[in-house]
Amino acid sequence: MHTVVVGTQKGGSGKSTLATGLAVAAMEDGQRVGIIETDPQGTVSKWGRRRTNPEPRIARVSTPIEIERALLFLRRDGYTLAMIDTAPTDNALSVSAYNAADLCLIPARPSPADIEAALPTLDAIRKLDKPFAFVLNQSPARSFRLSEAAMALNAVGVLALPYIVQRNDHQDALGAGLGVTEFAPEGKAAEEIRGLWSWVLKKLTTESFNHEQTPIRAVS
Ligand SMILES: Nc1ncnc2c1ncn2[C@@H]1O[C@H](COP(=O)(O)OP(=O)(O)OP(=O)(O)O)[C@@H](O)[C@H]1O
Ligand SMILES: [Mg+2]
Repeated sequence: MHTVVVGTQKGGSGKSTLATGLAVAAMEDGQRVGIIETDPQGTVSKWGRRRTNPEPRIARVSTPIEIERALLFLRRDGYTLAMIDTAPTDNALSVSAYNAADLCLIPARPSPADIEAALPTLDAIRKLDKPFAFVLNQSPARSFRLSEAAMALNAVGVLALPYIVQRNDHQDALGAGLGVTEFAPEGKAAEEIRGLWSWVLKKLTTESFNHEQTPIRAVS
């Protein structure tokens, strides 16, 4: 079982949106997926209550031991992917989640200020020596030029691609209790999330991919 953690202390950057969107895209790709939610705001469990499909399995946890137990149960029950959605803080619970990760995804809006706001999280993740990648989320749709900060992330192979454009489908899917690939399967938001899931899967399964430089490709 692979464990992917979506984390950044910066609020509203898209952790829960990406966690739910990627979880469903992974399910559609044949994974058995559980989401572990460490955020007391409960965005993912509220989303789960709006679903009719019991998958992905959702577990709310509030202590590091509960994270371990939830991971153990998922592994025991044959799940292949655990996605952990964290709160907008690098508290002890978030750090325990980062520590359980095979890959940490750090969502950030593509502005220098927003990328800077994620740096404390990056420090916490690097102290644990965990693989990580930034996901540029809520990017403007057209004529978007990557900032120098984002180019630098790409150059050192820690930018997940494609970047995710600001699109209503994400908000509507969250509200409807659906993954964006369920909500509007033919839409561009779904296409981007499927692309991001492919990137994540490749990162999880290909060792040499970790330091590979990836081309920048936008879906506009
Ligand atoms: N790519 C996107 N396009 C449009 N809206 C988005 C996108 N990503 C996130 N949003 C919206 O932005 C808001 C914040 O997203 P979300 O709740 O996923 O962030 P978060 O990082 O989990 O927040 P918190 O730090 O409070 O947990 C939500 O209303 C969500 O629907
Ligand atoms: Mg959230």
